[in-house]
Amino acid sequence: MDKLRIVGGKRLQGAVSIAGAKNSALPQIAASLLSPFPLELTNLPVVTDVQAMLNVVGAQGAVVSRSAQGTTIEARALLTVDTTYETVRKMRATVLVLAPLLARNGQARVSMPGGCAIGARPVDLHVKALQALGAHVEIDRGVIAASLKSGLRGARIVLGAPSVGATATALMAATYAKGETEILNAAREPELADLAACLTAMGAEIEGAGTHRILINGETSWRAASHHSIPDRIEAGTYAVAAAITGGQLELTNARLEHLASAVQILEMMGVNVWPSDRGIVISRDGALRPVDLTTEPYPGFPTDLQAQIMALATCANGASLIREAVFESRFMHVPELCRLGADITLKGTSALVRGGGKLYGTEVMATDLRASVSLILAALVAEGETIVNRVYHLDRGYEQLDRKLRQCGADIERLKG
Ligand code: EPZ
Repeated sequence: MDKLRIVGGKRLQGAVSIAGAKNSALPQIAASLLSPFPLELTNLPVVTDVQAMLNVVGAQGAVVSRSAQGTTIEARALLTVDTTYETVRKMRATVLVLAPLLARNGQARVSMPGGCAIGARPVDLHVKALQALGAHVEIDRGVIAASLKSGLRGARIVLGAPSVGATATALMAATYAKGETEILNAAREPELADLAACLTAMGAEIEGAGTHRILINGETSWRAASHHSIPDRIEAGTYAVAAAITGGQLELTNARLEHLASAVQILEMMGVNVWPSDRGIVISRDGALRPVDLTTEPYPGFPTDLQAQIMALATCANGASLIREAVFESRFMHVPELCRLGADITLKGTSALVRGGGKLYGTEVMATDLRASVSLILAALVAEGETIVNRVYHLDRGYEQLDRKLRQCGADIERLKG
């Protein structure tokens, strides 16, 4: 297993190109199963979760081909094979193929995702959405078994929580439902508006994506399509913290300021400078870092996927920050590892009290989940001495060439092949 070796103390300077959004790519690859015509995706990030999802749709009979322009997926004829626990265990997002397989085949069997480093991760909202559209769904010994006695029919779906995944499931299934579907309390993440844009290019009729109320006119006339997804706002936010924590300056090219409003507000409260450039966003920090209190929320609130990263930054602030995780029931796997680097963090339920201002010292740490891992890298960039981060495969799931991008901006970081 590869490791990363980082020696802290370098100010980052330069430009980082932000890749296509992983959390757009995954539902869009799943959505390709809805159509018998080819879907070309032109800026998939080169991360292992995307390859894993391409393998999943390939196993269902889709033909995946790559060209200089992008990746084309053609699901002309689908198999009816189970999506196994082994596959779903490794990547929860695999559950996103449930709706397309059910809509196309009239039946689907997808393993329940187990829990993971950030919580139980149930799928009850996905199941309820499909049942509202007329599907028969039961959990049969750890497998979600969905079937249709007659076709999907348009309905009003009221989501119990603005779940990103459940909104995607409802959106995809509704493209096959007879009549109109209304999704209320829909998640508003930009990746869902992006999924709707992709589905619209494929022939779907959707309005309101990105708001709490989405309308879909079912029985889509599918067509061949090409889609260029939005840049990855979480990758951009991560590099913004890298610039801030090292006291440097980075230009994040392709990044979209409007997707990061709540994160930018927090960064500015901490004393970080953020401004738009004609290529994206520029982040710099020259003064002292101030502490901050924040709670993670569904979009447009502060994103849970940037919670670990901002916590690393808070360890360097002059004072105490209170960070509350309100989206997942346990997303503090990074805390014990940050404490090994010398951070002073106390957990109380869903809140972390971060007493900043102390020095961080390099040591050996263990990556756990994707965002927890990158918070260790961010802390290591300012820790005194050498830090070794183990199990780097967690990072490779969602960050494209992280070590190369950081090295290009002056970080002393290298990948140790293991
Ligand atoms: C998506 O996960 C993202 N993943 C996550 O990013 C992100 O953290 C999350 O949304 C929240 O923004 C992808 O898009 C592939 P949810 P998802 O359904 O869809 C509960 C990363 O690091 N819930 O919005 O799984 C759930 O337990 C990943 O890139 C139910 O109770 O998130 C959680 O507490 C991590 N029942 C909350 O809702 C359900 O049926 C939010 O989950 C579904 C979810």
